[in-house]
Amino acid sequence: MTAERDLDILVIGELNPDVIVSDPDPVPAFGEVERLVGSIHLTVGSSSAIFACGAARLGLNVAFFGVVGDDAFGRFVLEALRGRGIDVSTVLVDPRLPTGASVILTSGRDRAILTALGTIAAMDVDLVPAALLARARHLHSGCFYMQETSRSRLPAFFASARARGITTSFDTNWDPTGAWDGGVRDMLRASDVFFPNAAEARLISGVADVEEAARALARIGAEGRTDGGPVIAVKLGAEGALACSAGGPVIRVQALPADPVDTTGAGDSFNAGFLRAWLDGADLAGSLRYGAVCGALSTRALGGVDAQPTRDEVAAALTSNTGAATDGTD
Ligand SMILES: Nc1ncnc2c1ncn2[C@@H]1O[C@H](COP(=O)(O)OP(=O)(O)OP(=O)(O)O)[C@@H](O)[C@H]1O
Ligand SMILES: [Mg+2]
Repeated sequence: MTAERDLDILVIGELNPDVIVSDPDPVPAFGEVERLVGSIHLTVGSSSAIFACGAARLGLNVAFFGVVGDDAFGRFVLEALRGRGIDVSTVLVDPRLPTGASVILTSGRDRAILTALGTIAAMDVDLVPAALLARARHLHSGCFYMQETSRSRLPAFFASARARGITTSFDTNWDPTGAWDGGVRDMLRASDVFFPNAAEARLISGVADVEEAARALARIGAEGRTDGGPVIAVKLGAEGALACSAGGPVIRVQALPADPVDTTGAGDSFNAGFLRAWLDGADLAGSLRYGAVCGALSTRALGGVDAQPTRDEVAAALTSNTGAATDGTD
């Protein structure tokens, strides 16, 4: 590791705000009807930005590369990330596009999401400053399927980062096209950790059983590699999480018991927690347990970022829940 690697994680991806409309019955009524709702809240949205905030909250030194528009939403997310200590100095401002945004209607039990893409798909890996990448220990890409501009070039970008000694991870989230490919296999071969949820793992691998799906993804990622290939860490919501790499056992951890206010971004907070532990040298079970606690604690407030835990909060939860988040292998 070279002395100038002062960044723990460089995040590349989308950044946009979420407008959260919260009410027991948040369903709008057409016909120009005005309904009153409990609250409307503006916060940091987008998988990549929520991940970055979670990692920074856990004490990691994080920089973000992406694109916003020259507008109030763009300035809001940049200021929010800056306020959390994230280096956004190389985020590009594109005056030709509006910053993307989501409106989330949530009842607590269910939610509906309306998204305007704007800058969300605009991040281009060819524009990542070489000097920024050179400072990073680890590179993370969120929301692979939304990265329309440079998705086809991401695997080669990851491979070149790994060739320089930078570890890599990615999360696809849902594929809005329903194709469930888009080069994910090439990404697996160029990654150290992949973070699907159960549905995504099944759909990408084409295997119905989630443990077998994880094993299949690990085998694909290990093709042509001598280092054992990537860890596949699969998020299972209230069921916790599991992980494996090619040739190793599947390791499971239970969820930390929670009474969620809002599960938005729990997966991204899990990713941040897993990587905090993994980059510190924790084993697979320890990394999974740390991620699962971060995911559960992040559900304590509306939106993705407001309840993300500090390391002290994770330590306290791990201590007081020795019965929970136990692991098992098979
Ligand atoms: N209801 C819950 N109770 C306890 N823990 C939870 C709950 N929901 C999520 N978690 C924790 O957070 C982790 C990630 O959540 P989830 O499985 O929902 O990820 P995801 O589907 O990728 O989410 P996202 O909506 O952010 O993409 C889970 O593995 C689990 O450890
Ligand atoms: Mg997810």
